[in-house]
Amino acid sequence: MSTSRRDFLRNTAIAGLGMGLFGAASAQAGKYGVSSSAQSDKLDIGATRPRPAGQKPVHDLTTKPLEKVRVAILGGGHPGGRGTSLMRDALHTKLVEVTAVCDLRKERAEMAADIVMKATGKSPAVYGGAEDSWEELVKRDDIDVVIIATPWEWHVPMAVGAMEAGKHAFVEVSAAVTVDDCWRLVDTSERTQRHCVMLENCCYGENELFVLNMARNGVFGELTHAECAYIHDLRWMLYQLGTEGDWRRAYHHRLDGNLYPTHGLGPVAQYLGVNRGDQFKFLVSVSSPEAGLSAYRKKNNPNGGIHNEEKYICGDMNTTIIKTELGRSIMLQHDVISPRPYSRINALSGTGGTFFDYPARLALDDGKKYGLAVPHGSHSWLEDADMKKMREMFTHPLINRLKEASKGAGHGGMDFVMMYRHLECIKNGTTPDSTAYDAASWSSILELSARSVGTGSCPVNIPDFTRGLWKTMQPLGIIA
Ligand SMILES: NC(=O)c1ccc[n+]([C@@H]2O[C@H](COP(=O)([O-])OP(=O)(O)OC[C@H]3O[C@@H](n4cnc5c(N)ncnc54)[C@H](O)[C@@H]3O)[C@@H](O)[C@H]2O)c1
Repeated sequence: MSTSRRDFLRNTAIAGLGMGLFGAASAQAGKYGVSSSAQSDKLDIGATRPRPAGQKPVHDLTTKPLEKVRVAILGGGHPGGRGTSLMRDALHTKLVEVTAVCDLRKERAEMAADIVMKATGKSPAVYGGAEDSWEELVKRDDIDVVIIATPWEWHVPMAVGAMEAGKHAFVEVSAAVTVDDCWRLVDTSERTQRHCVMLENCCYGENELFVLNMARNGVFGELTHAECAYIHDLRWMLYQLGTEGDWRRAYHHRLDGNLYPTHGLGPVAQYLGVNRGDQFKFLVSVSSPEAGLSAYRKKNNPNGGIHNEEKYICGDMNTTIIKTELGRSIMLQHDVISPRPYSRINALSGTGGTFFDYPARLALDDGKKYGLAVPHGSHSWLEDADMKKMREMFTHPLINRLKEASKGAGHGGMDFVMMYRHLECIKNGTTPDSTAYDAASWSSILELSARSVGTGSCPVNIPDFTRGLWKTMQPLGIIA
């Protein structure tokens, strides 16, 4: 374990209710010219912080169109790692040239470079071997976008470093762990006028885009309520050495809240127009007891018992309720421990109907409007034939356009659709669907939920990272 990783873990040791993490921010924070002081301990955590002088909003930031998008990958990774998978998707779009790769473990960066060489006949520059090797990489003048697929504590230092060096940052989920760091992303994006795009692939799932398209076309009428989650039994992964388990399990003995909010929340925030016409206002959060990870460890004795001293505090199931400025409600859950099938719930209700996913179901108040039979009215889900008709009418144009090309890509193809869409925006110089405001507000739920749990489920305000822009912004449209 390297020194700064050890520092990070020491700095984030739980103090009292697990708030040590937030006081310390990340071990890397102070190094990049942005304060690492525990602002959130001095301020109302949910307060909207004033825009520092010299910054401009980025909600409609456009940039110079590019022939090819030159990308670099941080966390080049290993065959099962996220960096490798994102790099393959980027190459597959044919919109990019991969000019540099970096991984702390240099042999992994070399492996990533080899993949690029085989795919394109050109080898990217290779960086690695030290935790700060990426700092040299971002200084290069042949990079437009830096893709960040490293452990969570590195996301913000790397995204800030990339933007400060004039590059757009494409950062994996969650973009940040602390509210202070969410503000750092927003402030850096505004100061540098570079995009900070969180790579929330779940916004580009076929069902999510289907629901978005129906919502924008008024199928759900006035939107009132949504439900979403990240429910994924990851117990096995949390004890895997040399990959995600090595660092991700640490959060289970440091925090009790929603540790991974954005896969469920991102799509739902887009349906409701959060940051664009509506805004998160406050949340309350409740956790179940921690039981499952301890029980799994006891039963399986992973890695010969080296984890036996760890005391897990994160409740197996966390349930967070978010209220929005327009009065809507969102139920958001996190459970990576219980033995149960995968689900992001992905539900939306309004005056005109309700959608629930896993499996996809739709009930409509007035199916006849769409030429459907709807024999039992809104008390039953649509029959298969009616659902098929709705899909024919409302499958998102992006899916129709990229369906063939996305076959075989990660997570049922949505990883490719996401990558294509974001790169296309950078290539054309248009504003990506997801801005620093989305990265910040969706990610901020991690700390805010833990704070609510830590105070007996008291309401906690959610900052307005757009600083009022949400009131005049239009909800995300249906992009062809
Ligand atoms: N969107 C999705 O569906 C999805 C899926 C999996 C993972 N992720 C996210 O992707 C990120 C990476 O996950 P993973 O499973 O690949 O993790 P991993 O631990 O398997 O891989 C991370 C890589 O980053 C490297 N690394 C660590 N510190 C570094 C540094 N300072 N400089 C350069 N390289 C460094 C490691 O050596 C490793 O190769 C995480 O944020 C995770 O949450 C997202």
